[in-house]
Amino acid sequence: MRTIDWVDGAIELIDQTLLPQTVEMRRVTELPELIDDIQRLAVRGAPALGVAGALGVALITASVRAELGDAELDAEEVRRQAALLREARPTAVNLSWGVDRALAKLPEGADAVLTEALAIRDEDIAACISMGLRGADLTRELTAKDRVRVMTICNTGSLATVERGTALGAIQTLLEQGALEEAFPLETRPLLQGARLTAWELQRMEAPFRLLIDSAGPFLLSRGIADAVFIGADRIAANGDTANKVGSFSLALAAQHAGVPFIVVAPESTIDMSTASGADIEIEDRGVDEVAGFAGVRTAPAGIGAVNPAFDVTPHELITAIVTERRVIRPAAGETLAGVPFEDLRA
Ligand code: MRU
Repeated sequence: MRTIDWVDGAIELIDQTLLPQTVEMRRVTELPELIDDIQRLAVRGAPALGVAGALGVALITASVRAELGDAELDAEEVRRQAALLREARPTAVNLSWGVDRALAKLPEGADAVLTEALAIRDEDIAACISMGLRGADLTRELTAKDRVRVMTICNTGSLATVERGTALGAIQTLLEQGALEEAFPLETRPLLQGARLTAWELQRMEAPFRLLIDSAGPFLLSRGIADAVFIGADRIAANGDTANKVGSFSLALAAQHAGVPFIVVAPESTIDMSTASGADIEIEDRGVDEVAGFAGVRTAPAGIGAVNPAFDVTPHELITAIVTERRVIRPAAGETLAGVPFEDLRA
């Protein structure tokens, strides 16, 4: 089952707000629905947002063409609507990357836009396989262990991509290789992507794991509970600073304190060479309601305020390695993305 796909002229996606209780596919035929699904996290995770962006442009292109009633395309109208999609969420660069890559094919017509969007989907599937193998090999190298215990945050699995995942994909690869002793997903307040989504995926793959509350993660690293920390990424700046789900930074600090490798697993579509450092990354604030209550039940007094950043930024000095589908970069050891040609990274 793919998290997001193009089926009979529309986007189909798993509604992640209903998991783990209900597994339900949604069929999305209109742009406002897709934007709403992105904003309420029915579809989420940087690589899946890249595919949603690209397929969204295919959807827009098809609907603009249908409105005109012939094969002519109103490119201006497609671009106007694509700009709305591009801005649905600000932090994961994959969304704008997917939109822009599909839009670049607009001069060649609607079929070319769809072909490009489907290529992005297929590349995502291949990239996840490759990142998983590279991540598993690197973990064995860094830990000098045949069986490892891995801590992770948020959901970076098949639900955050088309299939398989990035950091959780690497954990699945370790499992398949008989090299996973135990996984420790953090619950990931306030929307519980770890407890709802990662625990669901780990259970389905029959992995050994125990769920942790977020605030226990750094302390348990200091007590030696894990051999490595794996995270995904929403945007990697040119200097290697990495935005990911809030809580990643404190895990990185604790991993350094504990002498545990801190590994970012992400496709190269998440690297944004136009953003110089983490300080330049826009961090989405999701407002008070997600903090003051859960699933419609208020847990904090009415009328309070909250600061609710969905992401934080881990400085590159704390990142042992960034594993992509093509290479391993070691920022804490002084390696930079600068040595990698920009075209190569974005190809
Ligand atoms: O707010 P979300 O659920 O979209 O946040 C997702 C994350 O932070 C993931 O770790 C990141 O997108 C990488 S997913 C492979």
